[in-house]
Amino acid sequence: MLAPVPLFLAPMAGVTDLAYRLLARECGADVTATEFTAASGLSRDNAKSWAKVETDPRENPFIPQIFGGIENEMVETVRHLSESADVVDLNFGCPAPKVTKTCAGAAMMAEPDSLVEMVKRCIEASSSPVSVKMRLGTGSNSINVLEIAERCAQIGVLRVCVHGRTLSQKYRGEADWDMIRQVVDTLEPYNVPVIANGDIVDAKSAARCLEVTGASGLMIGRAAIGNPCIFAQIKSELGWIDSDLPWKESEAHAKYWAWNRYVELVDEIGSDYAARNMKQHAISFTKGLPGGKELRPFLHAIKDFRKLGEPLNLAFEAYSNRVHNTLASPDAIEMAKAISAAEIEAGIKKWRPTVKS
Ligand SMILES: Cc1cc2nc3c(=O)[nH]c(=O)nc-3n(C[C@H](O)[C@H](O)[C@H](O)COP(=O)(O)O)c2cc1C
Repeated sequence: MLAPVPLFLAPMAGVTDLAYRLLARECGADVTATEFTAASGLSRDNAKSWAKVETDPRENPFIPQIFGGIENEMVETVRHLSESADVVDLNFGCPAPKVTKTCAGAAMMAEPDSLVEMVKRCIEASSSPVSVKMRLGTGSNSINVLEIAERCAQIGVLRVCVHGRTLSQKYRGEADWDMIRQVVDTLEPYNVPVIANGDIVDAKSAARCLEVTGASGLMIGRAAIGNPCIFAQIKSELGWIDSDLPWKESEAHAKYWAWNRYVELVDEIGSDYAARNMKQHAISFTKGLPGGKELRPFLHAIKDFRKLGEPLNLAFEAYSNRVHNTLASPDAIEMAKAISAAEIEAGIKKWRPTVKS
């Protein structure tokens, strides 16, 4: 058996909100982080940016992730966040043009000296440990993750997470786990753990990635979208846990349990902002399941997507109990239709979460 390592839920904008992070932890993720949040927004006290880094006593460790190209803004934001965070994570991996055009995210890898100086000053300003997440470099001719990761280890980062692609690859091609292995070997003398990220989708790929990279932890992103139970499934298949799971064996029941729990967590958190991604989550949960395609238009028609919980619950309940072999159960569709008809009657427009300033 492979020795167990912690499993991380990858930070993902529009996905890893607080409710989803708490859900992922109940589903076996050991570590979660907020989606990346602009240091420019946080340092200017933008209420929406601060809402993105909300947490809850159950989230332990609490790891806000920030990005930015302006050193002073990053330093001040780390100083502020580190008062309540267990770890502050710095993003040097985002390939989105709106981020890289400000020389932030993965674009920072083109400026190793500035990146390392920024990390150094953030560590000095922080009252909590600082970790970094990066790609391999900006392109196939400029792979410099070994140099940057080593310099970050020398100045005292807590850990380095590596997504095995370059900036120019975005999400294309395959993650290069051999390269991640080289980062692991390079950082070994510094005793700084490396977390491997990219293309882990199930127990088989998790085991393979661990064998190839020898990493201290594995981070899972896209495969956890709409599928938070992946963490326990991997641990269970690799023999890392033998406790009873809260859901029955089938994928259908796992989704039913997880959707129910997600809706409960949104309610428990209670803020409008907690529900902001409910529609995306609802759509993701139904992807790839029989009847999902037929059900989705009725879910899309609901304008206040805080009301999506019940019809989708009904669909998952019928599907997982094998009352229907499809998610498009007549009861769920009728309920979704009744909700959108009532909204039209009441003149309700698309719901938007409000953020308290
Ligand atoms: C929708 C989406 C949003 C993402 N947002 C972030 C983010 O906010 N911060 C970050 O470091 N990476 C972000 N990523 C990258 C992931 O954290 C991860 O590095 C990448 O998806 C590769 O892992 P995977 O192959 O397991 O998906 C995002 C990825 C996706 C698909």
